[in-house]
Amino acid sequence: MNESRPAPVNLNLSDARILVIGASSGIGLAAAAMAYRAGASVVGVARDEASLKRSFTTIGGPDAARLLPIAADARDPAGLESIFTRAGAVDHVLLTAGFAATGPARTTPWSALESAYRDRLATAYAVAQRAAPALTAGGSLVFTSGGFAIRPAADTSVVAAGLAALETFVRGLALELAPRNRVNAIRPGRIDTPMLRGALARTTGGPVDDESVAAAGRSIPLGRIGDAREAAHAALFLMANSYITGVTLGVDGGQGLR
Ligand SMILES: NC(=O)c1ccc[n+]([C@@H]2O[C@H](COP(=O)([O-])OP(=O)(O)OC[C@H]3O[C@@H](n4cnc5c(N)ncnc54)[C@H](OP(=O)(O)O)[C@@H]3O)[C@@H](O)[C@H]2O)c1
Repeated sequence: MNESRPAPVNLNLSDARILVIGASSGIGLAAAAMAYRAGASVVGVARDEASLKRSFTTIGGPDAARLLPIAADARDPAGLESIFTRAGAVDHVLLTAGFAATGPARTTPWSALESAYRDRLATAYAVAQRAAPALTAGGSLVFTSGGFAIRPAADTSVVAAGLAALETFVRGLALELAPRNRVNAIRPGRIDTPMLRGALARTTGGPVDDESVAAAGRSIPLGRIGDAREAAHAALFLMANSYITGVTLGVDGGQGLR
């Protein structure tokens, strides 16, 4: 061990400036809150300004000096430009904004596949292009895949293809940005967020409460749906560990095993 080197894992991220795109809800909000509590400065992005401000108020109060909310659409080139212009230099970028267009391939039009790619892969690609020059040395990008990439369901081939492409992009980009910067992704399984509850409501056709979320998690090896903080923790771990790049880290309660 070389004691003269700085500690390789800065677990508290206290000096970091972290940009979270998708910060008003779910995994992104949990990551923003966790990073803020660890002492980081957090720039958070979502389209709906009011809900972003409400969410950030729950993290650190409306005037918290280390929180910068930016209302913008990450799919829109002008929106992306405004995000990075206002954010300035950042140490880590987490992209959680994403969508799960589903439908059987036999009947789903090509436009849906195009939109799945645009929303997932093209947004990641554009974020990577804009983020790379803004990253400080040692900084990283963390993208968000999903369990369908390795364990598709019958009507998810479209979204699964977009997720798998994203994971492969992460591996290639990791080589391109090394050694200055790292690139990784998380692959959440089923995580209790507004997105998941919306999907459950569409599947069951009824209201979703804590009991129905618990029931939906019983078939997962760990017996439950994940907490947004558990997925967020995986993203912060990938930022903090300075020797991991090109990895997609599953955080799925073992669901990918079955
Ligand atoms: N929850 C799960 O079970 C699960 C499982 C596998 C994968 N994932 C993936 O994990 C990611 C996060 O999911 P989640 O459940 O945390 O979702 P969520 O609760 O719906 O949160 C999504 C966040 O992204 C923002 N957002 C969406 N589109 C945006 C855009 N174009 N530009 C900027 N911000 C945008 C949303 O705010 P606005 O709507 O105001 O923009 C919101 O803050 C997604 O990529 C999802 O596909 C989730």
